[in-house]
Amino acid sequence: MANSEKSWEKRLSGEIDELAVEFVESLSYDRRLYKVDIAGSIAHAQMLADQGLITKAEYGQIKKALFEIGDEIAAGTFEFNKIHEDIHMAVEDALIRKIGDIGKKLHTGRSRNDQVATDIRLWMRDEIELMQARITLLQKALVKLADQYKTDIMPAYTHLQRAQPIVIGAYLLSFVEQFERDWRRLKNCRDLLNVSPLGSGAVAGSTLPLDREATAALLGFAGITYNSIDAVADRDFCAEFIFVCSLIATHLSRLAEDWILYCSNEFGFITIDDKYCTSSSMMPQKRNPDMLELIRGKTGSVYGALIAILTILKAQPSTYNRDLQEDKIHVFKAADTVDLSLDMAAAIVHGTRFNTTRIAAGMDRGFLDATALAEYLVRKGVPFREAHGIVGSLVAQCEKEDIRLVELTLEQFQVACNRIEADIVEILDPGKVVTQYKAEGAAGPVQTAEQVAYWTRKLSER
Ligand code: ARG
Repeated sequence: MANSEKSWEKRLSGEIDELAVEFVESLSYDRRLYKVDIAGSIAHAQMLADQGLITKAEYGQIKKALFEIGDEIAAGTFEFNKIHEDIHMAVEDALIRKIGDIGKKLHTGRSRNDQVATDIRLWMRDEIELMQARITLLQKALVKLADQYKTDIMPAYTHLQRAQPIVIGAYLLSFVEQFERDWRRLKNCRDLLNVSPLGSGAVAGSTLPLDREATAALLGFAGITYNSIDAVADRDFCAEFIFVCSLIATHLSRLAEDWILYCSNEFGFITIDDKYCTSSSMMPQKRNPDMLELIRGKTGSVYGALIAILTILKAQPSTYNRDLQEDKIHVFKAADTVDLSLDMAAAIVHGTRFNTTRIAAGMDRGFLDATALAEYLVRKGVPFREAHGIVGSLVAQCEKEDIRLVELTLEQFQVACNRIEADIVEILDPGKVVTQYKAEGAAGPVQTAEQVAYWTRKLSER
């Protein structure tokens, strides 16, 4: 390839090593920044014109040609060449081929260092909004499902052991809460990154009278970065974004894990739509929750991206180093993986039903009403620790006789504790227990109905 193709490298001999071209390029993955790169360039050119660094007519030509390049890339007719290394050089080279010397003025007062820092921030700003919209859709699907199960009960587990009865809707809303925090984390991340590094140049700014506030305003940034040395090296927002992606993946994986268990024969709590199951190539009876397993599995790629970005950033000398080019690989990987998993999860939630009859039939196992019995004793004046012991002994007795607490006779109860009265039957049984939950945020039907209404209203406003 001719030396002239890389006219910005006059300093170098011009000899080209094919392996090095392959090795150094990021065009294969950073071309997806083309829209924001062009938007950044147009804002920069407009500012250059307003500052008298280029003429209005030159600005007009640059803008027109950049729009054309954008259209060509969008249409797939643009010819990318790896010799240009990255999207910034590919666009600039096309610009110069289109309008000649005027195109060479675009990079006035700018470096790829502040350019790429600006591009990633612009790209991430949009990506965060799309990801938030996906979270909202998943939340809405969960709330809709919760609305169908405001009174049906299921066992809650701690340590994967039966704990207390809860309403199915409350269980589903527990995920709405998790994803709400993720939504807010994304918002915080967006707020923090929404400042313009453009005008920081390579590292020290510029001797030219650049108007940084103007380009920031044109690009919709809330303000500018205040230290050029930091601005070209800062990728904190990339690490933070991938961390938030990792938490979303964590929450998705926990939902997936629950439902993989719940759709097993052993649990039989839910039925997932056939669309989201696969069969086995050998065992004809199989109905496997592969989509959920992949949501769980893909979490690994997202965590991998987090470790990668942190390791890339660790101990880099001030300021920009080419290491930073690798940031985008992991930012894109985390974003794409989480976007896909969020969409898949929302679809699965839409197609899932709870087998309420089967769940209800199994509620007799595991003494789910034991804690409510202890609290009954508290209301009768027994100190909680003592009540805990009394109920523990009663449970042991029931286990021996292979009966439920509610099947003990009043006499048996009164032998264990003389404060127990005939009204005991009103509180035992998991179905009755959930209706007695008093505390705000508890997993009963009253609280669930309130929260379904709350979320339905809140999410409809997004
Ligand atoms: N492709 C590079 C990146 O993603 C752009 C910046 C290159 N800057 C430089 N001084 N070589 O980081």
